[in-house]
Amino acid sequence: MGVGMMLGAHIGPRARATIEQADVVFGAVSDPLVELWLQQMHGDVRSLQPYYAEGKSRHDTYREMIEAMLAEVRAGRQVCGAFYGHPGVFARVPHKAIAQARAEGFEAHMEPGVSAEDCLYADLGIDPGDVGCQHYEASQFLFYRRRVDPSAYLVLWQVGVVGDRTVTRFNTGPAYRRLLVERLAEDYPAGHVVTLYEAATVAIAAPRMEQLPLSRLAEADLRMQTTMVVPPAVALRRDEAMMEKIRRLDDGVQARVERARTGEEDAASDDHVDTPRGDAAIPPHLPSRAAADRHAGDHSIA
Ligand SMILES: C[S@@+](CC[C@H](N)C(=O)[O-])C[C@H]1O[C@@H](n2cnc3c(N)ncnc32)[C@H](O)[C@@H]1O
Repeated sequence: MGVGMMLGAHIGPRARATIEQADVVFGAVSDPLVELWLQQMHGDVRSLQPYYAEGKSRHDTYREMIEAMLAEVRAGRQVCGAFYGHPGVFARVPHKAIAQARAEGFEAHMEPGVSAEDCLYADLGIDPGDVGCQHYEASQFLFYRRRVDPSAYLVLWQVGVVGDRTVTRFNTGPAYRRLLVERLAEDYPAGHVVTLYEAATVAIAAPRMEQLPLSRLAEADLRMQTTMVVPPAVALRRDEAMMEKIRRLDDGVQARVERARTGEEDAASDDHVDTPRGDAAIPPHLPSRAAADRHAGDHSIA
């Protein structure tokens, strides 16, 4: 179950009911207050936090967490994992626990919650449909060659432990962040302003939305709960060749409609209209060529 980011404010009725009706609840939440709140919902809440330890591989931690939950499932109990945010977003344990339970013949289900990503869009006023939005785990972003699109947003998760190959650390440090800056410098200018974002986890707190140039990132305060948002650095570039192909298709459709209107062609029997997918009916009111061009230039969504 996802319990959302903010204590008591983001949990859905289905997640709440599942927690209340379970035999046992395992909790992996963002802070001790949230854990106390969870304990008010159920008498047997077992924290998964003690499985984490500095210097211990998170792979071992995750294995142990899954095993703890599965042991209760095998014992015939209704088990619920309550995870902060959305249990399926940048979260390995819920996905693996569900897959393992199903592989062993048990029923398992994931209930979404409000994630850090959702809060980020609301707090920072970003619409991912505006110019697009790329999400990467920060270390994976460094370890592998990715094709960054600097005309879209870039969101880097787990930036506080960027570069940790051992998956044992709670923080890396300036030297690792300098490598991240070096990588980002391939696509962004050094003065490009990014945001360090931390959603509020209690209603009385404010989110952290600290802006700074990339050149100052190495010395910044990056924590386990920090997500970094890199806004676009360049404008969208129109694909003129593709636009021309679309215009030609539009012209063909428009011409058929005109012919049907003037009686040269029977629109009702025309089931071979040359639309992009070939299977769509002729829209009753096609936009004019000028309107279609105007619309193609509008890259935002409704
Ligand atoms: C293991 S992921 C868990 C994400 C979580 N499942 C969710 O739905 O948001 C941990 C990462 O989520 C992000 N995160 C966690 N808490 C956050 C918060 N309060 N504000 C912003 N990002 C947060 C950070 O990037 C952090 O390194």
